[in-house]
Amino acid sequence: MKRAVLSVLSVAGLCAATGALAVDNIRGLAMTCDNCHGTGGTSVGLSMPSIAGLPEAYLKNIMMEWKTGKRASANMTRLIKGYSEDEIAALAGYYAKLPWKPQPQSVAADVLLKGKDASEACENCHGKTGASEEDDTPHLNGQWAKYLELELMKYRDPGFAMPHRKMTNAAKKLGADQVQPAAQYYGAQSK
Ligand code: HEC
Ligand code: HEC
Repeated sequence: MKRAVLSVLSVAGLCAATGALAVDNIRGLAMTCDNCHGTGGTSVGLSMPSIAGLPEAYLKNIMMEWKTGKRASANMTRLIKGYSEDEIAALAGYYAKLPWKPQPQSVAADVLLKGKDASEACENCHGKTGASEEDDTPHLNGQWAKYLELELMKYRDPGFAMPHRKMTNAAKKLGADQVQPAAQYYGAQSK
């Protein structure tokens, strides 16, 4: 009797330790994501973000925030509710291991300068070009500028649920005329 209880416990322990491995059809799951986010998670355009190579902790956190309703998203909330926590963890691990491929976009020189000025307030966390290596911080370098601009508007909007207090405060400190240039500055960076 005692032995049976012990072996049940050790099986449970094993499953917890290898939770992510319980999802064996990760490529199948990721195909749905790639339909919108591009092959291998690198997007071909505009308001659709690339997700390959973003930090695993960031990816997992943002998806769990959508799933639990802490964070709003017009496109991701409903979709992500269809995935279990294990599947979300596995997807975060899968995309984080793929390479980040900046898609540098061209910008007029005066806008670039204005954006560079604005980005000084962001440098501590995002680095000079947006290529931060922090676990909780997404890459901005060569991410699609239109997407970055839309996200900044959400962080600035008190009616839109974006729980990250420090980023929300930083976005609100930008002047209204700095939002688009800042987004375009990061979108133009190649590394
Ligand atoms: C129908 C299209 C569509 C599908 C399918 C889709 N996404 Fe998204 N996703 C979007 C859009 C649009 C955004 C950006 C705007 C928003 O939040 O609504 C987004 C944003 C994201 C972001 C935020 C990226 C960043 O830079 O912060 C992540 C992470 C993400 N999706 C992961 C996934 C994963 C993983 C899947 C598959 C389970 C998936 N998406 C499936 C459309 C889609
Ligand atoms: C205190 C650190 C910090 C500062 C300062 C900061 N950021 Fe962020 N930023 C973050 C973190 C962390 C995230 C991810 C937050 C989340 O999970 O919602 C983020 C997210 C973003 C995103 C969303 C990217 C995506 O893929 O969805 C954009 C755009 C952005 N920051 C731009 C800026 C700009 C522009 C500034 C300067 C005005 C700035 N940030 C200042 C830490 C910071």
